[in-house]
Amino acid sequence: MTRRDRRPEALVLDEDILREGAVCEFGGELAVEACGGVAVTPWRDRFRAAEAAELTVKSDSSELEDASFSQVIVHLQKSRAATFTDLAEAWRILQPGGQLLFCGTNALGVTSAVKRLAKELDQTPIIISNRARARVVRFKRGDGPGPEPETTPTYEASITAIDGTHHEWTMETRPGVFSAKKLDAGTELLLACLPGYIGHKPPKRIVDIGCGTGIFGIAAAILYPEVECLLVDGDARAIACARANVARLGLSERVTVEWWDAREQPLGDRFNLALVNPPFHQQGADVDLGPALALFASLWTWLGRNGRGLIVANQTLPWEGPLGEVGPVELLDSTKGYKLLSLKRSARPPGSRGRKSPDKRSSGSMKFPTRSR
Ligand SMILES: C[S@@+](CC[C@H](N)C(=O)[O-])C[C@H]1O[C@@H](n2cnc3c(N)ncnc32)[C@H](O)[C@@H]1O
Repeated sequence: MTRRDRRPEALVLDEDILREGAVCEFGGELAVEACGGVAVTPWRDRFRAAEAAELTVKSDSSELEDASFSQVIVHLQKSRAATFTDLAEAWRILQPGGQLLFCGTNALGVTSAVKRLAKELDQTPIIISNRARARVVRFKRGDGPGPEPETTPTYEASITAIDGTHHEWTMETRPGVFSAKKLDAGTELLLACLPGYIGHKPPKRIVDIGCGTGIFGIAAAILYPEVECLLVDGDARAIACARANVARLGLSERVTVEWWDAREQPLGDRFNLALVNPPFHQQGADVDLGPALALFASLWTWLGRNGRGLIVANQTLPWEGPLGEVGPVELLDSTKGYKLLSLKRSARPPGSRGRKSPDKRSSGSMKFPTRSR
């Protein structure tokens, strides 16, 4: 007997789970690989990998027709609001009598998520696989109520220019987008220091890397009416949210928003300033520093001559080492467990300034108590 795949997302391949016919899979690709159908993922790296594997993949499910699948899988995510948005979409595209498969790990709280879903659907779930600290449960698409999608609140943002002019505006958020419930304390620290850091001579071009709702780029565009901003993020939900904010605030002429993964080449012409609250991916206590390290490696190319970066992070994160490869790093401020770093891009590219000292080498995965993405 061959050993069963212990990756939690592979439980959907266990015997007697998938039926004949195409499947739509939210947050995974393995079942689509096995049966055909459509994978749905907002993450650009996974989207590109699925495309490269010649799978049909969408960054969101809005184009999929009502009742077009007899089976749909939803993988539980850290964000409940994002998971229940996917579940509501899964219900919409399921045919009457079709199966809804919901899978997730104990670490992400699959038991309580299943309980909530069962209550909303008014059904008793059938557990069809339960191993590797994860489970898959089955529900049937009936005529009863569907999952209830969550909305996320708007929040009020503000920034005060160095001449004392105060600006206030409303930010829209979306399920799954970073700081969907309120402004992150690290984000707040960078915003509070931005006007003083820039001083009286605003840069011409600013890039907000890992933009989430678009808060940094939008704040800069409101503060400096001449500046051009580019906002990039690897999550299509963040891109949709940032684009909606930019359009609602009437900034579309000066602010553009692009779906970009940290491992891709930087886009367009060089920038004078990069604003960054770097991503990290958390699996239990393990934090994957890979996306942040890839982002830092791209900074030298994003920035032009004399370009600068303003980077905010948890105080525990060892970013000075990898950022030091791009240029000199200075600690500007620290508060509430966060630090604000200033980076000045060196004239010479990373790797051409001698050997790294051992303490500056970073592994791609470490244990830190932090937030995720
Ligand atoms: C800590 S959040 C900061 C969001 C926003 N700047 C703020 O301060 O509210 C990091 C952002 O990086 C994005 N991100 C994660 N992995 C990424 C990757 N591989 N490439 C590009 N962006 C990524 C996430 O979607 C998230 O919006």
